Amino acid sequence: MAITLPPLPWAGDALAPHISKETIDFHYGKHHQTYVTKLNELIANTPNADKPLEETLKSSQGPVFNNSAQVWNHTFFWHSLKPQGGGQPTGAVAQAIKDSFGSYEAFRKEFTEAAITQFGSGWAWLVKDGGKLKVVKTPNAETPLTTSAKALITLDVWEHAYYIDYRNARPKFIDAYFDHLVNWDFANANL
Ligand code: FE2
Repeated sequence: MAITLPPLPWAGDALAPHISKETIDFHYGKHHQTYVTKLNELIANTPNADKPLEETLKSSQGPVFNNSAQVWNHTFFWHSLKPQGGGQPTGAVAQAIKDSFGSYEAFRKEFTEAAITQFGSGWAWLVKDGGKLKVVKTPNAETPLTTSAKALITLDVWEHAYYIDYRNARPKFIDAYFDHLVNWDFANANL
């Protein structure tokens, strides 16, 4: 049972101008697809070939971990975005952010700081851990899925996520995420 590339939850041009179709074509069509292809090559004719993705991810290291985690992280990232997203959080997650960080503004500041200071490639996450919401950052393919924390939303801060649209300006990409893209419905569904 090969791992397949899940469909995007929106059209490839639906996040423009904040994330261009060109970025999606590369990021989803090339990078995400390559993690899927590579993973299938690595697990072919091994005990992982018949396991669900999450099980492979949690029980592996090295290239199998890197590729399975990147497949999972990217699918989670696409669902963390939506057309006409962004703005103030809604529903239960709005209250949980207030309870855990004091305010949306304080949360956004902490998440932005984590996303900017993740040196090199990685991810910023809003997670629920021990009944409290927290911001965490992870390098490369590392993911909260291997920890006790439950991911609510993520932001990919690998250069391939923003270089076509924002060049080296990672902070502008993070602002676009909060102002226009983040999918609070997905965060609520995960809470
Ligand atoms: Fe990525």
